[in-house]
Amino acid sequence: PEEHHLIRRHEDVFVEPRLLIGVGAGTEGGHFGAAGGIGQPLSLLMKLNPLVSRLALYDIAGTPVSLLTSATLTPDLRSYVFPLSPLVKGYAADEQLGQALEGSDVVIIPAGVPRKPGMTRDDLFKINAGIVKSLCEAIAKYCPNALVNMISNPVNSTVPIAAEVFKSHGVYDEKRLFGVTTLDVVRAKTFYAGKANVNVADVNAPVIGGHAGVTILPLFSQASPQANLSDEEIKALTKRTQDGGTEVVEAKAGKGSATLSMAYAGAIFADACLKGLNGVPDVVRLGKNGVEEVLGLGPLSDYEQQGLEALKPELKSSIEKGIAFVHGN
Ligand code: NAD
Ligand code: LMR
Repeated sequence: PEEHHLIRRHEDVFVEPRLLIGVGAGTEGGHFGAAGGIGQPLSLLMKLNPLVSRLALYDIAGTPVSLLTSATLTPDLRSYVFPLSPLVKGYAADEQLGQALEGSDVVIIPAGVPRKPGMTRDDLFKINAGIVKSLCEAIAKYCPNALVNMISNPVNSTVPIAAEVFKSHGVYDEKRLFGVTTLDVVRAKTFYAGKANVNVADVNAPVIGGHAGVTILPLFSQASPQANLSDEEIKALTKRTQDGGTEVVEAKAGKGSATLSMAYAGAIFADACLKGLNGVPDVVRLGKNGVEEVLGLGPLSDYEQQGLEALKPELKSSIEKGIAFVHGN
């Protein structure tokens, strides 16, 4: 019955609630006290999403579900305060991973270690590659049709790791695997809005490539509303977007990397996946089977064309590194 009343209309489309899981949901207190980690704020944002019927949270270190359930409220008050509340359950330890994943439509993975100043994202490979590989093996077994949102770094290598694991289990579908680079878009929009002196909510700024340094390529020539920015200003905006993650890592001075902004970006991306699964049209060309249409790059400026050529070797070698890891080379 609880599931039944969660079925509702959304933007005139009949919406089927989905089971969603955040793997690596962050520990209570975490590294950063009450505000720590991506998983916690992302879990909270996903709990507020009306397209989620059940939220399964998994972390080897345990999950702070108390934060997310309204267990202390009476049922009446609960339906008043949280009329759209999905069921939330926490899981920990390897043996619960299957239970957590079973039946999931979308799986979000922010599990693994973050950077410290002086490190590249690739320096996280040693630890995070194994974490992502084992989680993807479980996904292949328990929810092979789920849309997978990969947040764990280095994204340029963890996505190919996921792809290879899924291939080895015969369940790979390129339409269902996503490296989450929405934070680059959030940054590009924010910096552009500041420079162009426009409202960030009105800005559209595409970003292509991967998620590390020069592999992040914002296409400000296609940004809107149009602004008369000089070549120097575009270069500076591009560099700031590419180095945005490092800027945060340095500002946090050893206490990890972006968390709240990533939770916000992850929630936007997961929401787009959920809407796509529910057949809501015009959501970044996502549909019932994941990716519906790969959008072209559009016309690139000379500067962007050079950036595209420059990013290919690094992206290629990060991809190859991920593939080699799965095949033990
Ligand atoms: P964090 O250390 O605060 O949280 C990571 C959580 O993962 C911890 O609670 C830990 O217990 C858990 N974990 C570790 N191994 C696990 C496993 N096998 N199964 C389940 N959970 C596991 O780190 P964070 O700040 O939340 O960052 C997490 C990851 O996200 C890092 O790799 C970071 O680089 C990456 N990140 C990516 C982006 C992006 O734009 N894609 C942005 C920010 C951070
Ligand atoms: C980011 O872009 O903020 C993340 O990839 C985290 C990092 O290490 O920079």
